Order: sequence, then structure tokens, then C-alpha cells
Amino acid sequence: MKSTIHRSTAPLHGRLDVPGDKSISHRALLFGALADGESRIDGLLRSGDCMATRRALESLGVSILDTSDDTVLVRGAGLRGLRAASGPVDCGRSGTGMRLLAGILAGQRFASELSGDPQLLARPMRRIVEPLRRMGANIDDTDGRAPLHIAPASLRGMEHRLTVASAQVKSALLLAGLVADGETTVIESGPARDHTERMLAAMGAEIRVEGAAITLRPPQGLKAGAFRVPADISSAAFPLVAALLIPESEVRLAGVGLNPTRTGLLDVLREMGGRIEVEDERTEGGEPVGDLTVYGSSLKGVSIGGDTVVRMIDEFPVLAVAATQASGKTTVSGAAELRVKETDRIGSIVAELTALGAHVDEHPDGFTVHGPTPLRGGEVESYADHRMAMALSVAGLVACDDVTIRQAECADDSYPGFMEQMRGLGVADG
Ligand code: S3P
Repeated sequence: MKSTIHRSTAPLHGRLDVPGDKSISHRALLFGALADGESRIDGLLRSGDCMATRRALESLGVSILDTSDDTVLVRGAGLRGLRAASGPVDCGRSGTGMRLLAGILAGQRFASELSGDPQLLARPMRRIVEPLRRMGANIDDTDGRAPLHIAPASLRGMEHRLTVASAQVKSALLLAGLVADGETTVIESGPARDHTERMLAAMGAEIRVEGAAITLRPPQGLKAGAFRVPADISSAAFPLVAALLIPESEVRLAGVGLNPTRTGLLDVLREMGGRIEVEDERTEGGEPVGDLTVYGSSLKGVSIGGDTVVRMIDEFPVLAVAATQASGKTTVSGAAELRVKETDRIGSIVAELTALGAHVDEHPDGFTVHGPTPLRGGEVESYADHRMAMALSVAGLVACDDVTIRQAECADDSYPGFMEQMRGLGVADG
């Protein structure tokens, strides 16, 4: 489906309830399924990716009940209570679902096959397969990718030193460690999101964090509980950048997750001159949250590298759009991981923003945007990547003519209702 975005002729005004955090929703479903007893999840994100994970768990014998639009009850099966699925477990397009499930299934007493949509089957899986094999897993990939074939195995805990800063890899290994013999230690190469560590600790697991080293002692079981999912800062990023770019806008985003491993974009946009105010900072469900108010601002270019890249790894498509409107040069380096996301996000950002008239240079591990440039209209490709589709929608709001985005419906993978919400702020969509 194509979606056409018109230039915004008026400031954006209002309050948005951004949907629940995708990473935390996945984990609440997956960890709830491993707990002893019933867990309640409030604020669950009902997006394509999270629903794929829900269905995958149901195919493994987990019962999940809807009690309201955003609340579900998960009947935990216990660490050893999942059952073999009757066929391949379909992870849809979700990398988080597949990689975390691989960690969970690697130490079970039954065989599994993990599969999914072609987009997911193109993504690298060796990064989890190799370390899981070192723990004793009997797991085969398909030329480094999924489908993954997992045979029953007994795992042993060990120390892993990660070469990529990836929360999915870290989480897969810690989840395998739940049923391993002995402790599992993961030494990170960068500060990847720590929702897994927070949630496992809240469920009673003994987990120690010493600098970059995270050590899990296999628990007897995980305690079921009540999870509260904050609004996803990676989704808030789109209305937030739209409000910054459209003069005189004022948009309020309530209850947004502000975990420091996720707030790199806020730091960068503020350094660029963006006015973003945070009020009522609090802790909900073990995660820091706050209410954001964003104001139309003049931006200037910055350099982004190092740990900041990890702390905003999903935000580069929309950051690139912001950079086209900032004065001066914005350079991103040390971000080669972007090449193995839902699409090659470096190549896609460069191709699509160039098609709209931006000046963007491509580097092996990043890109440079020379701003400011007026953007022209046209038809662009989302590559069925939700964050590309939404970033290009934000570009459409500031472009001189209409921007038509191909396969725009993929926004539903992380942000169901994105277009409707943007319309609520006064944005037209044809
Ligand atoms: C995620 C981790 C990140 C991120 C993805 C969600 C997670 O992936 O890009 O959107 O929930 O653990 P990597 O672990 O591949 O960096």
C-alpha cells in the first residue's frame, strides 16, 4: 500500500499517546511465558512484530488471554514447560522474536525450527548460533541465516565476549543461561539496551552487572508478575522530530520510556539545538519514564559516533531526516550495524533522501548529511522497513511537494495507528 504525505502547512499541536515499547513488549511476552504462574502485561504493543512473537509462543503451547485492548494475561509454562510446535515456529519479520526465542529453545528437550518472512530470513543469525553452540546447543543455521534448526541439548554456562553491541545477542545468551549448568557471563562491547537484565532481576533471577559484564546464575524458576510497558521512545522519535522541524509546533508525548540505554537521540537532538523538555520523571515497571514536550526548533549539524550510536541504534532513519533540515554537516560513524537491520539502513537512507533532493554521502559505517536542503516531493521506497516508512513520512511533512511512500503499511510492525495519530496533530495524509 502506498501512502502520500503532504507538506504540513501549520504547526503541530497536541498530545500523543505513543504505543508501548516494542523491546519491552517482546520481553514481557517471552519472559512471562517462562515464568511460574500468570503474568499480567499492561500497555502491550499490539504491533505486527509483537503479535508474531505472541503467535510463536502460542504455537509452543503458551496460553495468552486478552483482557482489554492493551492488557494480556500470560499463563507461564515454567522454564521447562514449553511444548514442541507442530511445525516451524513463524517469527514473522521480528529479529528480536527470533533471536530471543533461539536462546530460549536452545536448551529445551524438544526440537524446533525457527522461520519467518523473507525479510527476516535475510538477516544474520551466526551471531547467536556460534555462541549458543559454544554453550552446547545443537543448532544449525542456513548459510548463516534462518531457518534455524534446533535439536534438544543440555547447555553449560560460560563467559561470552561480544564483538557486536547487540541487545538481541546478549539477551539470547542470557535466556539460554536460564537453563544452563553453571553461570553465564556476557561481556558487552557497548551499552546495548538492558531491558532483559532489568526484567529477569525483577522476576527473581540472580543477575549481577559489573561494568560491561553481566552474570546470570540459573534460577530455580522465574516469578510471574505485573509488567507495565512504557511508550516506546523509538516510536516517539517520529512525532518528536516532526515537531522539532515544523516551526512553532508544540507536542506533548506522555509516559515515554527514558532508559539511558535508549535515549541517545534525545542527547543528539538537544546538541543540535532541539528544545525537548522532560517532566515528571518516574519509574514504572522497573523502567525510567517521563513526559516529553517538544517545540519547533532551529537545528545545526553534529557528529555522532561511539556509544551514542548504540544508544540510538533504531533512530538513524529519522535522525537523517532531521539532519537534512539542520544547518551544517551531520556525520554518523561506527554504525555499520545499520546495514543488517530490517533493511540496509545506510544504503536506504542515502538512496531515498537523495531522491528527495538531500545531499547525503555514504560511508561503510555511516553517512554524512550536508544541510540544510529543501526536500522535493516524489515516490520513495520504504523497503518494507517500518522505521524507513515513518522517517520518510516525516520527510514528507517538510518537503515542498507530496511524498508517496511504497509499502507504508509496514509502519504497523512497530507503530500501529501512526498515520492516524499524525493526522490528529494536524497532518494531512492522502
Ligand atoms: C532490540 C535490539 C536492537 C534493536 C532492535 C530491538 C531488542 O537490535 O535494533 O530494534 O529488543 O533487543 P540488535 O540487538 O541487533 O542491535
